[in-house]
Amino acid sequence: MTENDLMLQFNNVSKEFSSGLLKVTKTLAVNEVSFDIKRGEILSLVGESGSGKSTIANMILRIIKPSMGQIYVNKKNISEFPLEDYYKQVQMIFQDPFSSFNYFYKVDRVLNQAVLFRYGKISKEERKKHIHKVLTLISLNPEEVLGRYPHQLSGGQLQRFLLARILIIEPKILIADEPTSMIDACARAEILNLLKHLRKEINLSIIFITHDIGQAQFISDRVIIMEGGKFVEQGLTKQVFLNPKHKYTQNLLRSVPSLYRKWT
Ligand SMILES: Nc1ncnc2c1ncn2[C@@H]1O[C@H](COP(=O)(O)OP(=O)(O)O)[C@@H](O)[C@H]1O
Ligand SMILES: [Mg+2]
Repeated sequence: MTENDLMLQFNNVSKEFSSGLLKVTKTLAVNEVSFDIKRGEILSLVGESGSGKSTIANMILRIIKPSMGQIYVNKKNISEFPLEDYYKQVQMIFQDPFSSFNYFYKVDRVLNQAVLFRYGKISKEERKKHIHKVLTLISLNPEEVLGRYPHQLSGGQLQRFLLARILIIEPKILIADEPTSMIDACARAEILNLLKHLRKEINLSIIFITHDIGQAQFISDRVIIMEGGKFVEQGLTKQVFLNPKHKYTQNLLRSVPSLYRKWT
C-alpha cells in the first residue's frame, strides 16, 4: 500500500445533533473520530444501535455535514467536489432494498438511470449490453428480473440488483449500511460474498456497517468497534476478535451465538 492508495480519511470528525422543540437537546452522535480506508479494503464499523454508525455513513454521503473536523476523498475535502462527480466516486446501499426503488416503475429503471449517469446518452443496444453484463456478473438472470416491478422480486434479489447498479457506476468507495439486516439468512451470505467479489472486480473500498460481529468477521480486513460515538477499538479483524482489548468488544463477542465463535 502506498500513500496514493488512501481513498477516504476522517480527520477528528464530530457530529452534534440539536433536537427538540427549542433545539436544546444535544446529542453528540460522533465524537472526534479519525480513520482512513485504502483502495480495495473492506472496513467494518461495528456497534450497537445508536452508536453513531449511520451518522458516519451520512456524513460520507454528504447527507449531513460534520459539526467539526474534515473528511477527504482522494485527499480532497469532500465539500469541494461537485455533487455529481462525488457520487460517481462514492455510492451506497442501505438496509431496506425496497426504499431504493419506486414502486410504480419496473426495476429496469434503476439500471437505465445508472447507465445514463455513468455513460451519458448511449444507444439502446449498448445500454442493454452493459445491463446484461452486470446482471450476469452478479448471478442474476436478466430474463428473470428485467421487466418486473419491485414487489415481484425478493429482498435478496433487489439487493443484488442494487449491487449490479454499483457495478455499472463503478464507484471507488461503497458505503453499505446494514445491507443484509432485512433479508433472509440464505440471501445474506450471498450478498456478503458478492460484496467481496465486487471489491475484487472493481477494486472497490467498502465501509461495511453492521451490529453483527459475525458478518464483520466474515467480510472485513479491518474493523472499528464503536460505542457512544467513539471508537473504542480498531485493528485487523483477526487481531481485534482474537484478542479483544476493550470490555465493550469482549461483551459484544460474548453475546454472539457460539456458531460464530470460531476464533475463541
Ligand atoms: N437527525 C438526528 N437528529 C437528532 N439525533 C439524531 C439524528 N440522527 C441520529 N441521531 C442520534 O445520534 C445517535 C447515533 O445515531 P446513528 O448514527 O443512527 O446510530 P447507529 O447507526 O449506530 O444506530 C443516536 O443517539 C441517535 O438518536
Ligand atoms: Mg444505523
